[in-house]
Amino acid sequence: MIDPNELFENDNPIFANKDLLRVEHLPKGDKIIGRDEQIQSLANALRQAVHGRTPNNALVYGKTGTGKSLCTKYVTKNIVPQAKSNGVSVGVSYIDCLQEDSETDLISSIAREFNSPDTGITVPLKGISTSQYYQKLWDILDHSYDVGIIVLDEIDKIGDEDSEKALMLLSRAVEAGKISDCKLGIIGISNDIRYKEKADERLKSSLGEQEFVFPPYDANQLREILKSRREAFADSALSEDAIPKAAAFAAKEHGDARKAIDILRFAGEKAEAEGASTVTDAHIDEARDRQEEARLAELISCQVDHSQYLLIALAMKTKENGHTDGEVPTKKLYEFYKTICDREGTDPLKIRRVRGLLDELDFLSLIDQEYKSRGRGRGGHMVNTLLDDPDLVLSACDLTNS
Ligand SMILES: Nc1ncnc2c1ncn2[C@@H]1O[C@H](COP(=O)(O)OP(=O)(O)O)[C@@H](O)[C@H]1O
Ligand SMILES: [Mg+2]
Repeated sequence: MIDPNELFENDNPIFANKDLLRVEHLPKGDKIIGRDEQIQSLANALRQAVHGRTPNNALVYGKTGTGKSLCTKYVTKNIVPQAKSNGVSVGVSYIDCLQEDSETDLISSIAREFNSPDTGITVPLKGISTSQYYQKLWDILDHSYDVGIIVLDEIDKIGDEDSEKALMLLSRAVEAGKISDCKLGIIGISNDIRYKEKADERLKSSLGEQEFVFPPYDANQLREILKSRREAFADSALSEDAIPKAAAFAAKEHGDARKAIDILRFAGEKAEAEGASTVTDAHIDEARDRQEEARLAELISCQVDHSQYLLIALAMKTKENGHTDGEVPTKKLYEFYKTICDREGTDPLKIRRVRGLLDELDFLSLIDQEYKSRGRGRGGHMVNTLLDDPDLVLSACDLTNS
């Protein structure tokens, strides 16, 4: 019989404070490693707000896990009390655009974030029109703040037309006389360096007043980031080289701090599940595979079906080649992709479109494309190489579709 009193007990705790390893955990300023320059530049861009003047708009770019969200939250959180000591009221509305499906959703969330009980304004979740949401937003801003700062995290994730329309209206609010007592600043954050190329010209000029690029972390920085979360684990629950090993793995990918932290957490969970007393090298290895699979599944799940068929085709071809020769020419891959489409009961796309999808997969670092020349004047062809283990890719595609 299971004794309910023992159900939640643990004689060998691996974790002391697991919350430190959650994405939501915001480390204090002195625990943010290697980002002094970025934090200072962002603060400079917003500095005017502390004096009640219009801050610069800014775009923040960098790959995932390079600390963009963390540093932006840190700076915007600190600006409010600083301004207050000058008698200036600054409001911050931090929006995760992944959660917003439309212009209406977006504006309604921004208004709700800025709102407080003393405006006497209510922002209903639904039932009013987009323009009514805008009106509420302007009213709230004018009522409560000298300066409003809107942070749009993962700005590229809101639908193109919608986001451009909303951004245009937001960035021109003061000019257009929508708000009179409040200045507005917008910070857009994107994991996609090409976001700006894709965005509308007018938008570029209004949003991209200042741009900040967050570079990947190196292994030393990742080690420091992980060390500063050590207290997540019980004393002596981490073997000597658990942290350096997790940091080295993450550095090899693209210097992703989230990945490094996830590996450490997964390894701890693995050790805990086994009833082990320490997190060992082997746990880190297993955690890396699990992290890799989760990352791939997430990335792959955002791709259109035909990109997934291409990945499956490339993974199967790579396995067929027995890992000796990973390079698959586009034409060969296309033939095999057609058989996958057949299996899936769908019509294959034209090869031109497939080339476009392969370019996209190359940009996402899911595959690597290389043009092989046959020598002068004899043309050449493109070869595709899968960057991850084919079995991992296949199981990630499976996860995505199950
Ligand atoms: N310089 C840093 N120091 C400490 N922790 C960091 C640092 N950079 C990132 N992290 C942590 O790594 C994870 C990912 O960072 P995040 O800011 O969400 O990255 P991004 O927004 O660029 O994808 C978060 O848990 C964050 O707290
Ligand atoms: Mg982020």
